[in-house]
Amino acid sequence: MLEQERNVGTQEEFAAHIRNGLCQGFGKKWINPKFFYDRTGSCLFDQICLQPEYYPTRIEIEILKRYSKDIISNLKCTSASMIEFGSGSSLKTGIILEQFFSQGIRVMYFPIDISNAALVSSVRRLSSEFKNLDIMGVSSEYLKGIRKICSFIDASSRTPKKKVMIFLGSSIGNFEPDKTRMFLKSIEQYMQTDTDDNLFISFDLEKDSHILELAYNDRAGITSKFNLNLLNRINNDLGGTFNVSNFTHYARYNKTNRRIEMFIVSRYDQKIHIRDLGQTISLKKNERIHTENSYKYSRQEINHLAKDSGLVVAKEYLDAKGWFDLVSLSKR
Ligand code: AVJ
Repeated sequence: MLEQERNVGTQEEFAAHIRNGLCQGFGKKWINPKFFYDRTGSCLFDQICLQPEYYPTRIEIEILKRYSKDIISNLKCTSASMIEFGSGSSLKTGIILEQFFSQGIRVMYFPIDISNAALVSSVRRLSSEFKNLDIMGVSSEYLKGIRKICSFIDASSRTPKKKVMIFLGSSIGNFEPDKTRMFLKSIEQYMQTDTDDNLFISFDLEKDSHILELAYNDRAGITSKFNLNLLNRINNDLGGTFNVSNFTHYARYNKTNRRIEMFIVSRYDQKIHIRDLGQTISLKKNERIHTENSYKYSRQEINHLAKDSGLVVAKEYLDAKGWFDLVSLSKR
């Protein structure tokens, strides 16, 4: 079963965003990272996850393999609705679902993702891997998706009431700090104490900046392709005239703001016409288009974030190096 939000990741939203983001003056041009994930972008992201320098995926899988048995038995329930934010291709979800099954817990799975293509293929794959798994995929923004899913759960008598929400991949790192707080507060509203609802979020932790920068500058150049694919998307979807080879990928760690920043850099003074916007954009040599922030956290910050949002950190699952933190949050 698949629900598609009509206004998300659509042509109009993308067009409106590009019109605004690229008409800004020198040094202010930007594109929201959620637009990375068209069909090609989602595939490239899956490839990033396989690069040796991109430690988050590898380490998170390690953590899930080691602790998911514990995590699921600690839920202390016989049935649950599992809601996943940014499920992408749901590769890691299988590890968790497997535990539900082997512990005899009935589970209904609600993946939410902005990429309809990724959602369709993961729903298909999981349905064949787990016979009898109830899945309802929702292709939308997170908060619209959760609202829809929670009213579905409330209204339907045969849907498990206990909610287990998961937000993996350290994707929360894409939110600006204010947005993170707002997001957690919104989620907290949907958590109920009578069913002891749980929220699991993974955070990429601060570490040596060299390691961080390597993860966003892999040798095979996949992250570069992923970043520059935004220009292909503008060409394909909006009739843009970007010549991708006139641009370079740039990613560095900003120590002050504790985030990886990613940019597309113009190699020349150049003008780009975008047909569907009826607009021509001028870029100076070395001018940057800001395409992503990926925030890195400390365990203390995570605790503060939780507190500010009416949540508590019930448990943390870390890897041996302390690079990555899967946090279990409950309502206070
Ligand atoms: C999906 C946001 C977690 O920030 O590490 C990977 C996206 N960008 N390489 C990240 C990404 C470039 C990724 N998140």
